[in-house]
Amino acid sequence: MKVNLSGGSILVTGGAGFIGSNFIRYAFERAGFKGRIINYDKLTYAGNPASLKDVAAKYGKRAYSFVKGDVCDYSKALRTLKKYRVSAIVHFAAESHVDRSICGPKDFIETNVHGTFSMLEAARNFWSGRKDVRFHHISTDEVYGSLGRTGSFSETTPYDPRSPYSASKASSDHIARAYFHTYGLPVSVSNCSNNYGPYHYPEKLIPLLILNALEGKDLPVYGDGKNVRDWLYVEDHCAAVWEILREGRPGETYNVGGNCEKKNIDVVKDICRLLESVRPSAANPALKGRKYSDLITFVKDRPGHDLRYAINSSKIRRELGWKPAHNFEDGLRSTINWYLRNPAWLAVVRKAAYAVWLDKNYRRRK
Ligand code: NAD
Ligand code: DAU
Repeated sequence: MKVNLSGGSILVTGGAGFIGSNFIRYAFERAGFKGRIINYDKLTYAGNPASLKDVAAKYGKRAYSFVKGDVCDYSKALRTLKKYRVSAIVHFAAESHVDRSICGPKDFIETNVHGTFSMLEAARNFWSGRKDVRFHHISTDEVYGSLGRTGSFSETTPYDPRSPYSASKASSDHIARAYFHTYGLPVSVSNCSNNYGPYHYPEKLIPLLILNALEGKDLPVYGDGKNVRDWLYVEDHCAAVWEILREGRPGETYNVGGNCEKKNIDVVKDICRLLESVRPSAANPALKGRKYSDLITFVKDRPGHDLRYAINSSKIRRELGWKPAHNFEDGLRSTINWYLRNPAWLAVVRKAAYAVWLDKNYRRRK
């Protein structure tokens, strides 16, 4: 049975984060959603309500509500589901950064494992057997482990997570699927490759390097820079999630990827090349006569660094007719332009305690 989306309420967990905020904007602006979205977010260092200021102002309280809440808080989650008579949950909330999970795995186990369990329990209690509802769990290609030089991950690839982050996401995927098989809760899962685009927290490769370059700081490349990621523009991920919510089958998993494999060092060189065209280093006083590419610095590798990810997304392409609409060159250029045009958003996230810590920690790593 399909989820009833027309005029219903969707609860988005982690809607103040990178992909969640893009998803909420996509639902209203691109998909033409006419119901209500409840953004349920704890506002950790990665959550920023400013990312949705425009949406809140344009659509107002009848269409968009923010609830500050922890996904581990079962009672609050249940109260929120009841209050807004929610008919679909899109569960983005997570601790999402691999390097942080290596420095401190506890929050990852708490939020990603316990938090997903609590949200599933709240949904099971509230919906008690209804089939016209949906719990869509957002996950990552990292659960499949590391590829060699060839091959790609399909929905049937065995799980082999290798970082505390990916292990916590793998656990949450298994729990989500168990709720479908055991309790009949209408759960779907998607496993996506690396996203990039606006509102991306500058701890991740692409936004961190854009900002470091503009500020004349080193561009840290882990190891030899030959690790490969499969890049997808965030709006294309949002479109995939929307299609799964509308047309995807409960109990199914969909792999989502950009079919865009790139070595990290090539991504960094692309950032430098595009920056030279939109904000030439010669006219940027922070560069003191250097080119952006002069800032590239190879640093100590990430422990357990997965060599290569590549997603086979033929199932979602075939069954739901989804495909990415953006190529990497255009997506990266738009992303760079977005960071150049949004200094106010950046000022907030750069000032936060974690960003300051990150900067110091990187200097130690070198
Ligand atoms: P993000 O770190 O930018 O945002 C996470 C959001 O979750 C933040 O708003 C944060 O405040 C919120 N949050 C964290 N802990 C919470 C808690 N206990 N209760 C409620 N809210 C909490 O993450 P993202 O990059 O937007 O990733 C979103 C989801 O997509 C995650 O599940 C991640 O595993 C998955 N994913 C991300 C990527 C990627 O490239 N970023 C790729 C594939 C899958
Ligand atoms: O594959 C999907 C995953 O992509 C998501 O599940 C994660 O939430 C998301 O953070 C991302 O994980 P990665 O570890 O691949 O992303 P990150 O941006 O941290 O790193 C991308 C690659 O760049 C990776 O090989 C490590 C490398 N890197 C990263 C940083 C931050 C560097 O070389 N230098 C850096 O400073």
